[in-house]
Order: sequence, then C-alpha cells, then structure tokens
Amino acid sequence: MLKPGSSGPWWRTAAIYQLYMRSFADGDGDGIGDLAGARARLPYLAELGIDAIWLNPWYPSPMADGGYDISDYRDIDPLFGTLADADALIREAHALGIKIIIDVVPNHGSDRHPWFTEALAAGPGSAARERFWFRPGRGPGGDEPPNNWQSIFGGPAWSRVTEPDGSPGEWYLHLFTPQQPDFNWRSPDVRAEFEDVLRFWFDRGADGIRVDSAALLAKDPTLPDLPPGPQGPAPEPFNDRDDVHDIYRSWRAIADAAGGRLLVGEVWLPDAARTARYVAPGELHTVFNFPYLISAWDAAALREVIERTMELGDLSGAPATWVLSNHDVDRPVSRYGRAETWFDLARRPYLHGFPVDRALGTRRARAAALLTMALPGSVYIYQGEELGLWEVQDIPDELRQDPIWYRTGGEDPGRDGCRVPLPWSGTEPPFGFSLAEGARDPMLPQPKEWRELTVAAELADEDSMLRLYQSALRLRRSLAAFADGGLTWQPAPGGVLSFDRRLTDDHGPADDREPADAAVRCIANLSAAPIALPSEATVLLTSSPLADGMLPPDTTVWLRL
Ligand code: NOJ
Repeated sequence: MLKPGSSGPWWRTAAIYQLYMRSFADGDGDGIGDLAGARARLPYLAELGIDAIWLNPWYPSPMADGGYDISDYRDIDPLFGTLADADALIREAHALGIKIIIDVVPNHGSDRHPWFTEALAAGPGSAARERFWFRPGRGPGGDEPPNNWQSIFGGPAWSRVTEPDGSPGEWYLHLFTPQQPDFNWRSPDVRAEFEDVLRFWFDRGADGIRVDSAALLAKDPTLPDLPPGPQGPAPEPFNDRDDVHDIYRSWRAIADAAGGRLLVGEVWLPDAARTARYVAPGELHTVFNFPYLISAWDAAALREVIERTMELGDLSGAPATWVLSNHDVDRPVSRYGRAETWFDLARRPYLHGFPVDRALGTRRARAAALLTMALPGSVYIYQGEELGLWEVQDIPDELRQDPIWYRTGGEDPGRDGCRVPLPWSGTEPPFGFSLAEGARDPMLPQPKEWRELTVAAELADEDSMLRLYQSALRLRRSLAAFADGGLTWQPAPGGVLSFDRRLTDDHGPADDREPADAAVRCIANLSAAPIALPSEATVLLTSSPLADGMLPPDTTVWLRL
C-alpha cells in the first residue's frame, strides 16, 4: 500500500515480513510449517500492518539446506503443499492488500535436480556437465580437489563423483554443501532456464523475487587457487565479478516487462560502493542492508551506516532497506543482550560465548525496532522479531538440522536457533504451532519461557513487543512524514541519534494535511543517561516508558513536532 504523500512504487517504502515457512505455522500436523498454516495466519499478518511477505524457498527440495537446495524450480515441495496452495496463498494475500516476494536460488541447485542427475550419467566432457563446474582433480590419480576453495559452510568446496563406469571421477564445485552444486552461469542453458523460471512465477502472480547469494553466480572460469592467508578486500574469483551484472540486467528487463516486479538481492559485500553497483539503473531494485544488521548497538556506528546507506541511495536512486534480522543470523534480542553487540556470520561461535541479558536485549531490540521503522526506505521484519523471540542456543545436538553445524563438526552452532517454530497460543509447547489435532512435535523444540511470547499473550498485553510493532507499523503507514524521502539529522548529545522525517516538496504541498502529517522526529538514546525531550513536542510512540518526562537509556521515541 502506498503511504500518503508517496508517489513511487510500493517497494520503496514497504514493510516486508519474512515468512520462513518451515517454522511459521503448521497446517497439517507434521510439525513442519506449510502453506495451509501460512494461509490460515494471513489475517494475523494483515493485522500486523505489513505490505508484503517474502517467502523463503518453497520448492521441491531434499532439504539439505532448509530448502535452499532446489530440485524443481517450478513446483512446491509436498511438505509445504501444492502449486494450487501456492496460487491460493498469492490470491488470498493479494485480497488482503499484501504483495508476495518469492525466493529464487540461482547460484546452485540440488544434487537431485534432474540436470545434475543427467550430468552424472553423461560423464566427463558432456554438454550436461557444462551446466555445472565439473573438473578433473589434481595430483596423482586426480585425488586432490581442482583448487583450494573452501565451502562457505565448512570443508572443501569440491566433491568427487563416481563415473558411470564405477571409477573415481571428476570433481564438482559447491560453494555451500555438497548437495548444492553450483550452476555454471557461462552456460546459455542456465541463463535461459532461470529467465523462464522468473517468468513462470511472475505469471503466477509473484510481485517480486529475492535473489539468493546474488553476488556469487559468476566465476572466474580458470578457477584459480586463492592466495594463502586471510583474504583481502579484492573480489574473490567466485564473488562479485563484473560479469554477474549482465545477469541482472537481463532479469531487470524481465521484471519490468512483467509490469514492474521487484528484484531484491542478497548481497553480502564489505564494500558499500561495490554493493551499490547491484542497484545501478537497469539492475536490481534494492539489496538487503547487511551493514545495518551487523552493526553494534552503538550510536556512532549506526549513524555511520545510516549515513553511508543514504549517500549510496542518493547516488544510485535506489531506496534504502533496513534489516535487523533474518533466518541466517542470531536474533536481535540475543545480539543486543551480549557484551559484544555486533554480529558476524563467521564469528558466531565466539559470540555465543557471551552470556545474554535478555531483559536488556529486549529493551534494545524494542528501541532498535522504532529506530529502524523511522528510517526512510523499506523495512524487513523477520518472523518472530515482532514477538521479541530470542536466539535458542541450547537446542540438543541430536535435533540440530543446519548443515553448518554438521559441516563444522559442531564448532559453529549454525542457524537453527533463529528458526525455532513460532509460539502462537497456549502455555506449553507446541504453543499452537500446529493447527491439526494430534500433531507431531514442532521441527525444533521451543523454549518453555516462550509462553510469555505467544501471539495470544502479546495481543493481550498493551506493552508487548507485538503491540509495539503493530503501533509502529500503523503510524509508519499513516503518517505522510514517513513517505518516500530523506531524513534530516538533528543536533544530539553523544550516544544519541536524532533525525526528522518530513514530507518533501517532490511529494506536493503538505498544507492541506492533518497536523499528524507534520514532521516526525525520531530520537534513539543509546547513551547511559536519560535525556530531555524537546519542548512542544507530542509523543507518538516510545519503545519504553519515559521516566519523569525524560528519554531513558536504550529507548527510542517518535515525536510529532
Ligand atoms: C543464503 C540463504 O539466506 C541461506 O539460508 C542459504 O543457506 C544460502 N544462501 C545458500 O543458499
């Protein structure tokens, strides 16, 4: 839905809810979330006040990586339902005014994808192997991998196959698990196939595509060894290569031809200027703002990220996105409740060594939510963030599912802790996760303490995280000050972020508007001391109560000026 005063496309200012289907809601009672569960809970999302849903992969998959190992890009995994159920979800969401963004995984498929099966059977030198990265091994008997690349999930990035005649054969590249062979984007078949997949889902009503691992698709065809030692900022031979941009130029043409569908890229790059190239005119519309997600809970650090984000937006014309959480990272309540509040995917084991102060983490997560939702651009909310769920760090080893856990021999706990099924109602696990009678246990165990964080409990509590998100999203949608535009920083003491949002001239005069459409000031106090609020301002919303009219530490307020 367009905000008052906005004239651009919906995604420039949208609040987008990330629905990780396996742990959202279980309709059929097998303990795993599915389309029936998601459809039944659509009214909850409408009530929350979001504009769009991003669904993680729902395709047929052996689930070696939670569905990011796809064996058929044009169907739905039976765990989740059928293509007809997916059509129904899209239709029902649209009827509620909610857009649907689906996840496309172009870097790699599943080792059960028919193309990979065909490549194995066809043998070395075949056209079928050209769609992947097959190479002979090095060393005596070809027993060594073709190069020294390591999988992002641990272990070598190459696995060896057995040839049709039973002999030890070639190796194939997989930047993730061995069950996820990388496609060769130099192959015209691969390009044509994915262009067709995009059209398939746009025809079925998808309003946008989230592009998985978007910077990894193009590889240096010489597959050179990486230099020894830590990698510098220079692009690796499998990451952020210039030729990847050709792919997105052709995808953008398809998205435009389909009537302006959204392309949002998962681009994890340390260099902001390199990231900005993905949203150059004629490429992706937006990318996820990971520098913001991983930032410490620190005013100077956050201000720097926000400023850099806005500058890049000015250069590219692409709107900012703001992300606090997703299905790959520790939940904000836990991150902000540790002594080290930054996040790094590669340093999760280290970060898990810090005790978590959940009350502090929750307070900060509330403040972070209001800060985030006041920033100009679109905002992503990962399911459960609106309930204040924390990272579950004590999942029994034998129940863990994440390949990161297995590939690192348990050294890295992986991502199961942010994928625990949502608590909906009741006082005991499974907290209404399954809608069917006599359901199996949820796919990962829920903490008993989540009885206080169920949707039902939080709806009944005016001060809950859920109520805060509902109020913030409602205001964000209704106030013209939050229309597409910029922000103006205000002077503030150390440790405090203060900025104004107001309707800018390019959206027309504001003089016929309600007083509610005057400027909104957002002040986030990340310092250790309470601060005074400007006089003559009305409080619209606070993340924690004011104390004697002052804004306490770890609190954000929205003011009407
Ligand atoms: C990024 C996804 O967000 C993550 O969950 C997945 O494991 C990798 N890409 C591989 O597809």
